[in-house]
Amino acid sequence: MSLKVIILAAGQGTRMKSELPKVMHKVCGLPMLEHVLNNTEIDNSEAVVVIGHKSEVVKDYFEQSVKYAYQTEQLGTGHAVMMAIDYIADDDEVLIVCGDTPLIEKEVLQNMYDLKKQGNKAVIMTSFVKDPTGYGRIVKSRDKFIKIVEEKDSDENQKKINEINAGTYIIEGKLLKSELANLSTNNSQNEYYLTDVLENIAIAHQVSTFVVDSESILGINSRLQLSQAEYVMRKRINEGHMKNGVTMINPDCTYIDKSVIIEKDCMIHPNCYIKGSSVIKKNTEIRENTTIENSIIGENVTVKSSTILDSKIGNNTTVGPYAYLRPGTKIGNNCKIGDFVEFKNASFGDGSKASHLSYVGDAEIGSNVNIGCGVVFVNYDGENKFKTVVKDNSFIGSNSNLVAPVTIEENAFIAAGSTITQDVPKGNLAIARGRQVNKNDWNNK
Ligand code: UD1
Ligand code: CA
Repeated sequence: MSLKVIILAAGQGTRMKSELPKVMHKVCGLPMLEHVLNNTEIDNSEAVVVIGHKSEVVKDYFEQSVKYAYQTEQLGTGHAVMMAIDYIADDDEVLIVCGDTPLIEKEVLQNMYDLKKQGNKAVIMTSFVKDPTGYGRIVKSRDKFIKIVEEKDSDENQKKINEINAGTYIIEGKLLKSELANLSTNNSQNEYYLTDVLENIAIAHQVSTFVVDSESILGINSRLQLSQAEYVMRKRINEGHMKNGVTMINPDCTYIDKSVIIEKDCMIHPNCYIKGSSVIKKNTEIRENTTIENSIIGENVTVKSSTILDSKIGNNTTVGPYAYLRPGTKIGNNCKIGDFVEFKNASFGDGSKASHLSYVGDAEIGSNVNIGCGVVFVNYDGENKFKTVVKDNSFIGSNSNLVAPVTIEENAFIAAGSTITQDVPKGNLAIARGRQVNKNDWNNK
């Protein structure tokens, strides 16, 4: 016996008005289908995703990490499950979820699975909602589950029921298979309704409902619901960080992907975006309007209004305001990266400083180096990129150009305004600029 997961994701999602399949729209940085895949990873479960509409987009993203079943015509939720039936053995437990409900967390599904094991042949996730419009209603008789009636098939009394079907079920494999074979399209939408399977199982077997909060079951059908899901997930993520000892000035305006790790005593100011695989180590302050993607930020760092992408920042370093650290930047400990400084594919040793207005591209820079104001690492000749090496304790005077490939050895000093095209030996002073000429009494002529 094993737990199989079937994720229904073949629908078009018409109301999204999008070229992208609905399940590929992102919530807090990940496609909603990826959240569903992560949330359903319980008890070594194995997932099959039923795809149809624009299936190649889904496959290009997830590649071989999941199994797929194909539903070329969307004939209903019951039909979608039929497409995955070859993956199901009689003694499997089958968790069926919709690809558009990313807020049902792993712990909730685990608890539902525990309820399944208490003598139930099937468990249905339900919720009590203020406005049940559009959802299937749970029809019960003296607390016993009878059936699910779709909005379009319901009568006036049934429409008033406010316990709704979340579209998530755990069903015994053997019963699921036999009841799918009995499904018909005898309903107002001429579809194979998966919900009829539950009704038929309940005739002769124990079926329970598992009630969850109405926030978690939100299914995303429109851009408005997408923003509502984003709001709920953002709130959960930010509250999690605050519980772990992170200060947020205004969590409503702090945008952190689910995958991000933030250590304690960090402080995050408003309007920051922290994305992907980023890690923020303890005691660090991320000031307003900062974007950090896939980067590791050390301890006791201050980042002010800057953008940091695929980079690594050491401890006790300050960045910004308005620094732009592009992919491949590695900044050491106790460094200073000041205003309007751009780095790309460059390393910066411990204690080095670039305080203002510089471009540093394709470079290896040692420790305790000072990059003056307005220095440009000239790395591109229009066709190829070249590397610059600056060794420890060197001083690069303001407004210098280092034309790569070039090496500045240790303890060298570059005079301000130099354009350096040749290597500079250890301890040398290099001056590479026109000499100043003062013309006597020139303005009176
Ligand atoms: C379904 C339920 C309803 C429940 C609601 C919860 C049925 C008949 N109704 O209705 O009781 O309250 O979900 O959100 O099951 N899909 C396919 N192939 C299809 C049809 C759907 O893969 O042929 C997928 C969709 O991509 C979607 C999911 O199944 O991810 C649900 O389909 P949707 O059309 O949204 O079902 P509802 O009408 O909302
Ligand atoms: Ca739906």
